[in-house]
Amino acid sequence: MTEVGIDAIEIRTGKLKLDLPGTFAPAQGEDPGKYTKGLGLNASSFPDTYEDIVTMGANAAHRLMEREGLEPEDIGRIDVATESSFDNSKPVSTYIAGCLEQVYDGKFSHANKGERKFACVAGTQSIDDAYNWIKAGRHRGRSALVIATDTALYARNDPGEATQGAGAVAMLISEDPDLASLSTEQGYGSADETDFLKPNQQFPAVDGKRSVKVYLARMREALQDFESVADRTHPDDFAYIPFHTPFPGMVRKAALFGYRHMIRDTSIEDELAEQIGRQPREEAFDEEEAYEEALTEYMDGLKETAAYREWYDRVIEPTLTIAREVGNWYTGSVHLARVSALKTAAEEGRELAGERLLVGSYGSGAQAEMHAETVQESWREKIEGMTLDEQLEERYDLSYEEYERVHDVHNHAIEIDGEIEELTAPDAEFVFDGWGRMGERKYRFAE
Ligand code: HMG
Repeated sequence: MTEVGIDAIEIRTGKLKLDLPGTFAPAQGEDPGKYTKGLGLNASSFPDTYEDIVTMGANAAHRLMEREGLEPEDIGRIDVATESSFDNSKPVSTYIAGCLEQVYDGKFSHANKGERKFACVAGTQSIDDAYNWIKAGRHRGRSALVIATDTALYARNDPGEATQGAGAVAMLISEDPDLASLSTEQGYGSADETDFLKPNQQFPAVDGKRSVKVYLARMREALQDFESVADRTHPDDFAYIPFHTPFPGMVRKAALFGYRHMIRDTSIEDELAEQIGRQPREEAFDEEEAYEEALTEYMDGLKETAAYREWYDRVIEPTLTIAREVGNWYTGSVHLARVSALKTAAEEGRELAGERLLVGSYGSGAQAEMHAETVQESWREKIEGMTLDEQLEERYDLSYEEYERVHDVHNHAIEIDGEIEELTAPDAEFVFDGWGRMGERKYRFAE
């Protein structure tokens, strides 16, 4: 059977950085520990005044195509996943293709272009669309370009402001992929929820505390649904488990639930029973509340065990290193988590080919998706070709006043008086270049 999956990946971060414990927390009158320890974040990536979802997506895609030696002729679809779109009709993929056509001789006239929306899970759904297109044999030997791009900004003083981020992940989806092949098996957990939404507004309406519960519930359903087709999962089955990471503290909660589920009725549960007892079983309780209490007590004990800590440090922690420095990238977030894990493995000189990942995507509104991936022979070369460290290092460190100003520039409801200043200089990249006669955005490649 032909394998289909991720052939190569490239990341583009917003060029500004907001230091959360150093700059944001003091201005908010908050303890830096809330960011570093509670949410698990050191910094957010932020877009400069000439950056947006198109420039970040096009810059990521351009570098990916250059690295892979691709021409427009080699790409049969361009799917963009975003929840920061600025047009209800014309998809962002047309803008990105237009940018790329400025720097390539060929055109993307043969390529199917679209835009996917389902909050943060849309990036994974776009990979799915590409997978199905290739599996159906409609790709004529071409690859799909999937771009997850977002400016994940919240209204000022919304609790979500602490978790902002901006960046794009471009992925090449191909037959016989060089990075990771995707399992046919998938699991879903989906429900009509109002935890986080943008009803014709730029910044989200969020029920933050509820969104955490909805994330956990949908993720649990997706894991169970995945097991119903792929067999039971065990903590030792996967080298890494990248989750959608709105902030690392969220994944800390999800991982504990996942581990509890996976060790149930295994020798790990038996071995831990001496220290923390066996897991409470719902059927043994008359009252839901008593069951929940017993579960909380068990989980509090579980997270302190050496077995759980060792597993968490090995399988989960490496997926969070990038998120800690960039915040939430919405549609790109779970794909950053995958890169984060593989990058750590490459840095540690670990051999991963043939090992499996369990990937947990999530989008508010709400839907979780789980599938497995198998790491391919050339994974290291693909990961080492990325320039993420340099990009993160080069970000401009915002003062609080600059942050306020740049947030206003990106706020569609605010008319800026005076000149809009850039904080960094464009360097061989696509930039926003003003408005056209029909209200369209214009872009150019700045040498
Ligand atoms: P909050 O209420 O400001 O924060 O916002 P908090 O008071 O709950 O504190 C956060 C954590 O820091 C807590 O840890 C505190 O105890 C801890 P927890 O109890 O949860 O383990 N803490 C400290 N720790 C050490 N030292 C200290 C300290 N102070 C506090 N000094 C909230 C938190 C998540 C509600 C907010 O950030 C928010 O609304 N975020 C946006 C929504 C969100 O990210 N939800 C996540 C699930 S939904 C999702 O992932 C989908 C999404 O990506 C969108 C999409 O799909 O499109 C958002």
